[in-house]
Amino acid sequence: MTAVAGRGSLVEGEFVFTAEDFSQIAQMLHAHAGIALSEGKAALVYSRLAKRLRVLGLRSFRDYCALIEGVDGVDERQKMTAALTTNVTRFYREPHHFDDLRDRVMPALAERARAGGRVRLWSAACSNGQEPYSMALTVLSVLPEAADLDVRILATDIDPNMVAQGADGAYSEEALEPAPAVLWRRYFDRAEGGRWRAGAQLKRLVAFRELNLIGHWPMKGRFDVIFCRNVVIYFDERTQERVWTRFTPVMTPGATLYIGHSERVTGPAASQLQTSGLTTYRLGAGA
Ligand SMILES: C[S@@+](CC[C@H](N)C(=O)[O-])C[C@H]1O[C@@H](n2cnc3c(N)ncnc32)[C@H](O)[C@@H]1O
Repeated sequence: MTAVAGRGSLVEGEFVFTAEDFSQIAQMLHAHAGIALSEGKAALVYSRLAKRLRVLGLRSFRDYCALIEGVDGVDERQKMTAALTTNVTRFYREPHHFDDLRDRVMPALAERARAGGRVRLWSAACSNGQEPYSMALTVLSVLPEAADLDVRILATDIDPNMVAQGADGAYSEEALEPAPAVLWRRYFDRAEGGRWRAGAQLKRLVAFRELNLIGHWPMKGRFDVIFCRNVVIYFDERTQERVWTRFTPVMTPGATLYIGHSERVTGPAASQLQTSGLTTYRLGAGA
């Protein structure tokens, strides 16, 4: 591997990576996924995409840009997005949301479900499934018969690899550790290599789908609970506002929205969503 610097390269390394290459990639990622990249991220972009260049046998970022901009670039644009997104997640991440779901939200929803009503939850950037399975464990802790009732959790992500991992539902014991042991030991089954796989009840409760938050949403019904955490932080302000504005019409009156610890609801949706605790919002009844 020869180190290349100069010729306007932003990063020293195997491939020349110019400001123009960076700007083309940033524009493409913004248009495709809503993600805003500052030039300070050049080294990160380089290191994540250099792997793609090697796999594709390309010799420069200029060739890579030509590929993703072309008509044959659809597949690679998706791979580029997957390479540049952060998938960090954890079971029971930001545990106060799961306490709120269990203690303040689920009792009324459980009553509705037991009376034959419909209950829907959405994990809107689910990564590899740890968030929606944490939601499902919380639902089951209040309503053990949930999988036999009209209760469902939709788990979506832009990254097809994450969606596939979520649907597979296999995790190490270490990953499951933050979840209450009494719950995960009941609802996960032993799997190969010392791992644990989501059992039948969890699989029936959670459905995984690919969905781009800034693209088309095919869902018809409304949601009682939405988790949209640690994803809009990567979007620019206008895109964030647009996402918040799209949530309110798909929420039932009084529905709850949980967002990431460093995120805030801004823009027109802020007048409809009332803060109800830490990064927790309820849709006003008149909305
Ligand atoms: C940091 S993870 C957060 C996962 C989980 N919500 C949590 O808080 O643990 C961000 C996820 O957002 C997804 N993502 C990024 N842009 C997206 C978009 N435009 N539409 C849907 N998902 C997106 C990424 O693929 C990634 O899995």
